[in-house]
Amino acid sequence: MSLKISSFEEYQSEYNRSINNPNEFWAEKAKHFYWREQWDSVLEWDFKEPNVKWFVNGKLNITENCLDRHLETIGGKVAIIWEPNNPNEEVVKLTYRQLHEQVCKFANVLKNNGAKKGDRICIYMPMVPELAIATLACARIGAIHSVVFAGFSAKALAERINDATCNIILTSDEGYRGSKTIAIKSIVDEALESCDSIQKSIVLKRTGGDVSMQPKRDVWLHEEMLKVDETCNAEEMDAEDELFVLYTSGSTGKPKGIVHTTGGYMVYTAYSFQNVFQYSNDEVYWCTADIGWITGHSYIVYGPLLSGATTLMFEGVPTYPDAGRFWEIVDKHQVNIFYTAPTAIRALEACDIDFVNKHSLSSLKVLGSVGEPINEEAWEWYHKNIGKEKCPIVDTWWQTETGGIMISPLAGITKLKPSFATLPLPGIQPCLVDSDGNEIEGNDVEGNLCVKFPWPSMLRTIYGEHERCKQTYFSTYKGKYFTGDGCKRDENGMYRITGRVDDVINVSGHRMGTAEVEDALDQHIDVVESAVVGYPHDIKGQGIYAYVICVKEVNEDELRKELLEIVTKEIGPIAKPDKIQIVKGLPKTRSGKIMRRILRKIAEGDTSNLGDISTLLDPDIVKEIQKGAENI
Ligand code: WTA
Repeated sequence: MSLKISSFEEYQSEYNRSINNPNEFWAEKAKHFYWREQWDSVLEWDFKEPNVKWFVNGKLNITENCLDRHLETIGGKVAIIWEPNNPNEEVVKLTYRQLHEQVCKFANVLKNNGAKKGDRICIYMPMVPELAIATLACARIGAIHSVVFAGFSAKALAERINDATCNIILTSDEGYRGSKTIAIKSIVDEALESCDSIQKSIVLKRTGGDVSMQPKRDVWLHEEMLKVDETCNAEEMDAEDELFVLYTSGSTGKPKGIVHTTGGYMVYTAYSFQNVFQYSNDEVYWCTADIGWITGHSYIVYGPLLSGATTLMFEGVPTYPDAGRFWEIVDKHQVNIFYTAPTAIRALEACDIDFVNKHSLSSLKVLGSVGEPINEEAWEWYHKNIGKEKCPIVDTWWQTETGGIMISPLAGITKLKPSFATLPLPGIQPCLVDSDGNEIEGNDVEGNLCVKFPWPSMLRTIYGEHERCKQTYFSTYKGKYFTGDGCKRDENGMYRITGRVDDVINVSGHRMGTAEVEDALDQHIDVVESAVVGYPHDIKGQGIYAYVICVKEVNEDELRKELLEIVTKEIGPIAKPDKIQIVKGLPKTRSGKIMRRILRKIAEGDTSNLGDISTLLDPDIVKEIQKGAENI
């Protein structure tokens, strides 16, 4: 099945066609897949509600497209290569036939444990093959998966389970990450103390470490797998049936359960995968993300498997046993396409270049970047040292909400420009708007990035909160989806994403809501109020800077330590502030609104131009904070 464009001329004509006649364009792409029943109409939409339906009344199961469909043609091809955390442990390779069998068995285990179509099933697992298998097994029986990154705390996990009222959780005893062993099951146990909806937890034995199993509720996966056979007919799903929920941070409130549906997500993840990376048949593709994030959903599991690709999963971290691990894996498995985040590139750039030069990297053909803006220096380093100046770098801009890559070069086809995501994929209609909501036409302009026409893999709602979906994404600019990102369009119409314009920060490519971190800090008994902002960080892209006001004189070192513990407990280690400044007050307007602009400037160390502070309730506080910041 090829959906691939092969020249820039073709890109241009396909792009134009996709705009002029989207229905015909997407129907033609969708025909490459296996549908139990054809759709009645390609698209129905209204961005006001919002109400978007693709491939209306079409019937399918996405796993038949990921697996069954390939059995006759490429059943013996490796679907998943799994590289363990410990390089001396055995690699696992699953062919499409084996993966199909595993998914069917796992799906039968789910059924035996009471799972049915429409149930929400939480998956909290390390990066092992069973994580991909579990995800597909849910889709096979029509259960909605909610994968939670296994770095989130028990509290954060519980919040997500409760929000979607999951009835089953799939997990493991422990997980390996670098030199650490993570007590996955005990985090689940703690979470489940406050989750009434969970009836069953199915536990993979990964490390063999000691865990407590609660009778009736907890069962071992390997024991359950012995009780089932390998036939499991796929549940017939409507194109608009929910495929998964994935939680992400917004600028306010608790995390949002972004909902994706079946048909459109399938078509777009495969289409974008094949075109952006220009995948061809015998290539090995490796995306270093975790399946707990959207990048892993769309470009480790669904996009590659739908395309019959060989996708590599890595359990560990880039610096274990040493900083050459990524490059060792590239050589070991002869990886052709390598997709990672700028934060990883910058971290590895900071290590001795010998870690790179020890390896040949000659198999590489295409490099990718995702998750945050890639600065020019990191781009150049990646291009020169990893790509040896012969591999195109696809800087892919997209979001949990968009489901798939929206703006990106097509490898080897689109002209590159460092730190530019370049051009929209066919079918994607980005636009820039000014603060009054007017679309900014022409080139060499800057504004807020919106999308003005639906695309198949767009979010359909926020789980249980449709109104919030409308408010967050479709109300700021009438008739448009608002991304939350700022963006420039250069004189040639190339797009460069400049970063978030809201209170979301992007730490090591992970999205974090400043409000969530503040809520965690405020839990400390001595903290009266806090304000969190992002600031430029050499490796992480953005670091987290927290200002806190205390009720009384405190031992600052103690307090910092306790605050880090609280954040780890409330959210997880990824949300730990890099800097904490204890302040007497915060710059507020007369109406009590915190002036984050000022706090951002101070955190950046750029106090030359703080703007007008005369309208503040207490202008003197700014000087005091500035002075304090010098010692942080
Ligand atoms: C940012 C990750 C610049 C952006 C797939 C977006 C990027 C947020 C890029 C979504 C890129 C992602 N260049 N910024 N190539 N890719 N972003 O939901 O701010 O985890 O809004 O999805 O990451 O993060 P999310």
